[in-house]
Amino acid sequence: MIDIATLKTLAAEANRAPSTHNTQPTRFALDGAGRTLVLADLSRRLAVGDPTNRDMGLSCGAALEGLVMALAGRGIGAEVEDLWPADILWRPGYRLAARLTPSGTASAPDLAAYTEKRFTWRGLFSPAASGTLAALEASALAKDDVTFAGGKDALAFIAARNDAASLAVMRERAFRDELVAWMRLSPNHPAYRSDGLNLDALRMGRLEGAVAGKILASPLFSLADRLGLAASLVSETAKTMTAAACLLFHRPAGESPVSTGRAFYRFWLDFTRFGLAGWPMAVLADVPAAAEAMGQRFAVPAGHRLINVLRVGPAPFVTTKYRLPAEELVLDG
Ligand SMILES: Cc1cc2nc3c(=O)[nH]c(=O)nc-3n(C[C@H](O)[C@H](O)[C@H](O)COP(=O)(O)O)c2cc1C
Repeated sequence: MIDIATLKTLAAEANRAPSTHNTQPTRFALDGAGRTLVLADLSRRLAVGDPTNRDMGLSCGAALEGLVMALAGRGIGAEVEDLWPADILWRPGYRLAARLTPSGTASAPDLAAYTEKRFTWRGLFSPAASGTLAALEASALAKDDVTFAGGKDALAFIAARNDAASLAVMRERAFRDELVAWMRLSPNHPAYRSDGLNLDALRMGRLEGAVAGKILASPLFSLADRLGLAASLVSETAKTMTAAACLLFHRPAGESPVSTGRAFYRFWLDFTRFGLAGWPMAVLADVPAAAEAMGQRFAVPAGHRLINVLRVGPAPFVTTKYRLPAEELVLDG
């Protein structure tokens, strides 16, 4: 039987999982009958960037997978019910994502050793050894939900689509405002070390951060756009081209976001094994024209939906994980 103190430790481990804009929407509670509830805190939803809460479901699924691994690390097996499709409010403001019932014993999967080592790298990638790249490609080939995209032509194609889709999305003022609200562009921000995207995660200096905040949050962006400067402000091509390769992650079209999120976390941990960092380009899956172009060029299997595309490569160093304190992740049942 798990008690609240143990649940806090498990929650902190589970919350090493990736989440959109580092919103960390997943909460945990005990239901009084020995089961653990995984909940989405709707106050952390991205109303503009994620109007259907799909990304929130993905983030909860990733943390759920983290919880399953953390339990297994303590020898506890669990039966998982994905409750996302039922769309049930546990309490006002909290949507039920999943319920875990203890079931037999388990041992930690090999991937559990990589939860601390996995991170998002938003800088220039270091060169990858050819053996590592070959191993990554072979590993992707063995999976039915991952497609490997390597070589300069493929990277250039992806970089151009990513820049175009990002610019289209960033032209929406409401999207930029929401993004900036989750950016912590000064070390003095009260949540600098606990959630959102800080200067360290964004690989920005203080001055760069201050300028980015000003441009994104104000009509300056539209002015820059009219002058033809916005495209270069948004462009990530120079960094994208340093990736060792890109991985397209795609899943069966009708799958629940929570189940997809579980698989997404395993996918990311799986290439972390090769000493590689990842940098997602969600716009390539979210902007329909980009998703279609990617699907055609890289032959995403029929019946699969593109979930994300990650630039992958060695990072010069590991960045710190900025996370909420465990007390904030656990709710009283
Ligand atoms: C569903 C999903 C989509 C994401 N999309 C992006 C993205 O488009 N661009 C990006 O820079 N990071 C993206 N991320 C990464 C998160 O911003 C990152 O996981 C979070 O900031 C926590 O940092 P960490 O991965 O280093 O632990 C995404 C994460 C998830 C779970």
